[in-house]
Amino acid sequence: MDGLTLALSKGRILEETLPLLAAAGIRPLEDPSASRKLILDTDTPGLRLVVVRAADVPTYVQYGAADLGVAGKDVLMEHGGEGLYAPLDLKLARCRLMVAGPPGVDLERGRLRVATKYPRCTAAYFAGRGVQAEIIKLYGSMELAPLVGLADVIVDLVDTGATLAANGLAPLAPIAEISSRLIVNKASMKMKHARVRDLIERLAKAVS
Ligand code: ATP
Ligand code: PRP
Repeated sequence: MDGLTLALSKGRILEETLPLLAAAGIRPLEDPSASRKLILDTDTPGLRLVVVRAADVPTYVQYGAADLGVAGKDVLMEHGGEGLYAPLDLKLARCRLMVAGPPGVDLERGRLRVATKYPRCTAAYFAGRGVQAEIIKLYGSMELAPLVGLADVIVDLVDTGATLAANGLAPLAPIAEISSRLIVNKASMKMKHARVRDLIERLAKAVS
């Protein structure tokens, strides 16, 4: 196929990426948050959007089902980045990946139980510090885990800190600064170079 497909996720990424796309002169032909359609044409000929779950964006791009995508650095680190380039920091949806928990938990003690949506990042972080951690995979509401005895601490995203504070938890250690990245399928970068390059440049201008 000659055109380009850009994968986005509903919610924060879509809400923050649409104004950036508009600044680059790209608008979907219908309102993605109102539509139930998963493939949306844009006013740019040959450019369409697909709407997928946030954690699935790198998978669609890795396999070339989408040429490009917008994904959080957290999602990219967890995916591993195989088959992808990440040429542009869109500086959207900024937050931090952190270890958090009840104030005063000793992170150096062995056999910590850690609840997270990010098992791969979490394993790498604790292994890098030589701390033995038992990782419990969750799909959301990580803040609950220490409150009900499921885990000692969590690894989750923190922005304002309001969610932690509302649950009596505190940030304990930073793991990574997070923002959304434009990602590109490696084969698309070669085979559709001119079109991909043009889109990257338009978005880079819109970011700055
Ligand atoms: P899904 O709804 O598919 O389960 P999700 O809940 O991870 O996915 P979002 O909450 O929309 O989806 O988050 C998408 C991305 O936005 C995250 O991967 C992260 O990079 C960023 N993000 C998440 N929470 C925050 C936040 N509180 N502040 C800023 N950025 C955030
Ligand atoms: C994210 C994250 C934290 C919260 C942090 O959840 O998982 O719970 O934001 O933000 P804060 O530090 O500003 O409180 P989100 O709001 O995306 O909820 P959801 O993933 O359950 O939709």
